[in-house]
Amino acid sequence: MHRFEESSLRTVLYDAAILVEYSFHSPDRAISVPGNWERDVAVKRLITTNEAVELFRTNRDQERAIAYTISFSISRPSQIIKCVNSQVGMEEEASRLKRASPKALISATAANELLIFILADPGDALLVPIPYYPGFDRDLRWRTGVKIVPIHCDSSNNFQVTPQALEAAYKDAEAMNIKVRGVLITNPSNPLGATIQRSVLEDILDFATQKNIHLVSDEIYSGSTFSSSEFVSIAEILEARGYKDSERVHIVYSLSKDLGLPGFRVGTIYSYNDKVVTTARKMSSFTLISSQTQHLLATMLSDKVFTKNYIKINRERLRKRYEMIIQGLRSAGIECLKGNAGLFCWMNLSPLLKTPTKEGELSLWNSIIHDLKLNISPGSSCHCSEPGWFRVCFANMSEQTLEVALKRIHNFMEQKKTETN
Ligand SMILES: Cc1ncc(COP(=O)(O)O)c(C=O)c1O
Repeated sequence: MHRFEESSLRTVLYDAAILVEYSFHSPDRAISVPGNWERDVAVKRLITTNEAVELFRTNRDQERAIAYTISFSISRPSQIIKCVNSQVGMEEEASRLKRASPKALISATAANELLIFILADPGDALLVPIPYYPGFDRDLRWRTGVKIVPIHCDSSNNFQVTPQALEAAYKDAEAMNIKVRGVLITNPSNPLGATIQRSVLEDILDFATQKNIHLVSDEIYSGSTFSSSEFVSIAEILEARGYKDSERVHIVYSLSKDLGLPGFRVGTIYSYNDKVVTTARKMSSFTLISSQTQHLLATMLSDKVFTKNYIKINRERLRKRYEMIIQGLRSAGIECLKGNAGLFCWMNLSPLLKTPTKEGELSLWNSIIHDLKLNISPGSSCHCSEPGWFRVCFANMSEQTLEVALKRIHNFMEQKKTETN
């Protein structure tokens, strides 16, 4: 075939494959197609689009390359999310499980806020275990008008949620005449740096079932567990139990932590509830991910060798760092909660408090920040009800910087010992 004819034919075929309206991807589609078939087409389309964009870029036909990129990204981003899922193991996990894989959606990590907008009305409450990520005060409450009622957890059982604490929080909300719409957990936890045990997840699911409320699981650190076998997603509990009411369960994920891409603002809602997914899709118009970001990520994440290797090395490095800080703190006389995930550890400085109060904690924090020049988060900023706990990030600096920080803490502790003797 003549070169010119071949190139025209390619263009026509690519146009037909990429620019076509893929209405079966729509959540409102009239006919239902088998999951495998849909996934096959999505993956083929991703690969074809990639090929076509590369070809037309090389041929300096930017206009067509851009048209393909745009057509691909507005066709609903399920292709990309499937790539993400397959890389972090969720897709394999889902196909291993007997029931259908839940639908997924890509959006900015306004995902938590978006879910709360959908699940609750202003004035309603969410039960959230304390200590929790301080950003939740903003993300879950500010614009939704929803209230957070704390589920009190303490060091007596390593800050794990108990059925009694869940019931007490529910009663607190009732006493304030507030309607409880759901429980929101973070697994693995920020700030604890630890996963939630399977039995605790089961208790939380039983509680949500009994009260007929939603359960949101923020699993943003799920790929940053030092040992993958230690993390149990709420999705696994549902599947293992053959749980019937999975519509009440919603999982939030983002690329910010596990892939170290916070600036991309890319997150997902992984919900078992079609109505929630459809509404979230519509509302995600306000927080769409740019086509360029999607294209870049699709290209990056479809490189399986790179992503598998990345996650493996990331885990090994986190474990090494975690061990380094735990040992360094222990030799300075400081104990931490046993951790297995995330980018931080939960350090107990309560023996150093002049008074066992929030004021005592903030006064110690003040001297750490001004005298030691170390920026750590006081537990009270995470609403921890037990004074003296601090969150220490260990992953966002060089090993050398961490050594300097540990040395300063060591000297500080020596000085404290001489003061008390
Ligand atoms: C538990 C948890 N959820 C959500 C977020 C928000 O993540 P992003 O930076 O993707 O908005 C964070 C960030 O620290 C977090 O720790």
